[in-house]
Amino acid sequence: MVIAHITDTHIPGAGEATHTDAEPATNLVRVLQHASQRCAGILITGDCAAVAGTDSEYAAFAEIVRAATVPVWLAPGNHDDARKMQRLFDVPSRDSRCDYIVELPATRLIVLDSTREGREDGALSGSQLEWLDSQLNDTPAVVAMHHPCIPLGGKAFDTIRLDDESIAGLRHVVSAAVGRGVRIHALVSGHAHMTCFAEFAGVKTIIAPSSAYEFGLVNGVFSYQLGEPQYMEYSWKESGDDFLARVVTVDDSLWRTMR
Ligand SMILES: [Fe+2]
Repeated sequence: MVIAHITDTHIPGAGEATHTDAEPATNLVRVLQHASQRCAGILITGDCAAVAGTDSEYAAFAEIVRAATVPVWLAPGNHDDARKMQRLFDVPSRDSRCDYIVELPATRLIVLDSTREGREDGALSGSQLEWLDSQLNDTPAVVAMHHPCIPLGGKAFDTIRLDDESIAGLRHVVSAAVGRGVRIHALVSGHAHMTCFAEFAGVKTIIAPSSAYEFGLVNGVFSYQLGEPQYMEYSWKESGDDFLARVVTVDDSLWRTMR
């Protein structure tokens, strides 16, 4: 079983500005084409829209995503409008949040809506954490949301990840699940525009690369760099064993990873 994880596509509306020389729409077209050839489905963990989840941004995003030949599962990010995404893209919801499960062979993809309206940082409510706890069972899981739960280094990022209370609650739920033998393949997110791996409550966490541009510092000043678009590929056996996470760079449409 192979799925793709794309994030932070940041698609602008038609004719609207984006970062200088960035081509988020072209990048998303390339990533979707590449991933669709190998993956059974594609997860996009938010910031689908460039800035504010406007109708024109979602019209441009929809136009591109419509071409995907496999199912696409969406989670909202801080630059999205979660309610609008539910309406426009039929994103499943629970208590009006985009929380849902995708049942895959030998694995449940558990998608959580970590956004809070009008804010850059993220949160999970007590009800969401309770629901997550109830969904972690005998079947291995991948838990996905926009906001990371790990420190990223630097005040700029660490003030806009999940808030401290949510991190503490998530840590409690995840460590309890691990303690009762639940297999969580990974907690996966986006938001940082950097590819990062860390451990959280006994589980690996993965921050996928943005398909649009990477964030970093130039001479100490917050900046971005362009490059070939990237995404994460997750695979596992039909028994649920041998979960593998890999960064895929779309530099040649003929290039295929080995497995
Ligand atoms: Fe974000």
